[in-house]
Amino acid sequence: MSPEANQNVILEKLEERLPRYTSYPAAPHFAEVLPKTHRKWLKNITSDNSLSLYIHIPYCQQLCWFCGCNTSVANSYKPINSFMSALVQEIQLLSSILDDSHQLKVRHIHFGGGSPTLLSSEDFDRLMGVLAFQFNLSDMEEIAIEMDPRTLSEEKIETYAKHGVKRASIGVQDFDEAVQKAINRVQSEEMIFSAFETLRKYGINKINMDLIFGLPQQTLEGVIKTAKKAVKLDPSRISLFPYAHVPWMKKHQLLINEEQIPKKEIRLKMADAMRQVFLDAGYIAIGMDHFAKPDDSLISAKKNKRLKRNFQGYSDDEADVLIGLGPSAISKLPDGYVQNQPNTKHYQERIWQDELASYKGHGLSNEDKIFGAVIEELMCHYSVDLEEIAKTHGKDTDIFSPSLERLFAIEGIGQSGLIKIDNDKISISEENPVLVRAVASRFDQYLPEGNVETETKQYSKLA
Ligand SMILES: C[S@@+](CC[C@H](N)C(=O)[O-])C[C@H]1O[C@@H](n2cnc3c(N)ncnc32)[C@H](O)[C@@H]1O
Ligand code: SF4
Repeated sequence: MSPEANQNVILEKLEERLPRYTSYPAAPHFAEVLPKTHRKWLKNITSDNSLSLYIHIPYCQQLCWFCGCNTSVANSYKPINSFMSALVQEIQLLSSILDDSHQLKVRHIHFGGGSPTLLSSEDFDRLMGVLAFQFNLSDMEEIAIEMDPRTLSEEKIETYAKHGVKRASIGVQDFDEAVQKAINRVQSEEMIFSAFETLRKYGINKINMDLIFGLPQQTLEGVIKTAKKAVKLDPSRISLFPYAHVPWMKKHQLLINEEQIPKKEIRLKMADAMRQVFLDAGYIAIGMDHFAKPDDSLISAKKNKRLKRNFQGYSDDEADVLIGLGPSAISKLPDGYVQNQPNTKHYQERIWQDELASYKGHGLSNEDKIFGAVIEELMCHYSVDLEEIAKTHGKDTDIFSPSLERLFAIEGIGQSGLIKIDNDKISISEENPVLVRAVASRFDQYLPEGNVETETKQYSKLA
């Protein structure tokens, strides 16, 4: 067998049902965290820490059948009013717990969802006003908003620009109408083009576009057309996600006709073909699923080894503390992760009792920090210096021996040329998302010993 054919055999056999490592440990390994622990961890944040905020808006105008996000449909503005009052109260509660929140410099604010664009301009104004009152926003690097073009208006864009929003993430998914119908998300090309135009008119020039492959009714020719239309709009970044089909967790995905989901071989071809369109158009691949223009800040972060992996994917946000607000939002605090109650009703009840909406999380041990650093390096840079990480944490490289054993237990990997080990430096030859997750997973201390394929169904088989 030729070396290339051998590599393909190994790649084919690698497990697909693995975490995407937006945190370590991955969220399914979180356990209950009580508000008193959450409070204690918040108290340990000092003005030496740099801070980012993630604000989750859990509502959408209509439910896309493929959606894996934490959201529900708002049939009127009434539930949003109620949610807004809880969110404002949560911000006030947090700043009363944090030691002198007014001194804490916020670097990034990311509004995600759901669809933050469902908020009225008045509510967005009010939210920014409350944040500016409770925190120090004078050194802000970036405010970013996830946008559903169907709920955008020029008035809202003007409001975002007034508050200094510089980055927008627009959900496109696919331009093809047959695909849009199959996922219950019909949005015309004109609407998307007009969103780009209006954002640029108000100086919001950093625009990311979200696309998905593996959706029902997609064909290889169709996704290539979508990729070409995408680059014509000249977004600064493109996120190309594999469709994560998890109907046992997201019941509405049962509305998707599974027969119409392209088969694995086609999905792999789609990913390759779309990737090629982006590379030919001058985009540079970042990690598993992002593409950025050469002048985008992700590219310099990649070059300078400052690239990070967080709940939004790849990021150049270097803040050491992330505070999540809103239902299901996850905070990354110096002591550990805490996720808020995902259910909006339960979240609101907690906040109205003047209590944190803590739900699940994980206290980080020194060992978690070491293995987390290895996994983040691999996911971001496809290489890792084990000695450097061990040294930084006061350990010997022996700590990695069981992981290396697990890695070399992958049949044929040692001679395949897919990974290289030189003086405790691992590098992955091919920027392959399946391969990098398989290598990273061997350093994951929370996956069952031996065969990681025994991991439960928490992760999509299609990813
Ligand atoms: C919160 S949404 C973006 C903002 C807005 N709600 C919208 O859809 O336009 C974040 C992105 O997650 C991606 N996404 C959601 N569900 C997914 C799934 N099941 N598999 C892969 N990607 C998914 C979509 O690309 C979506 O644009
Ligand atoms: S993809 Fe976006 S708009 Fe569609 S349901 Fe999910 S969060 Fe809402």
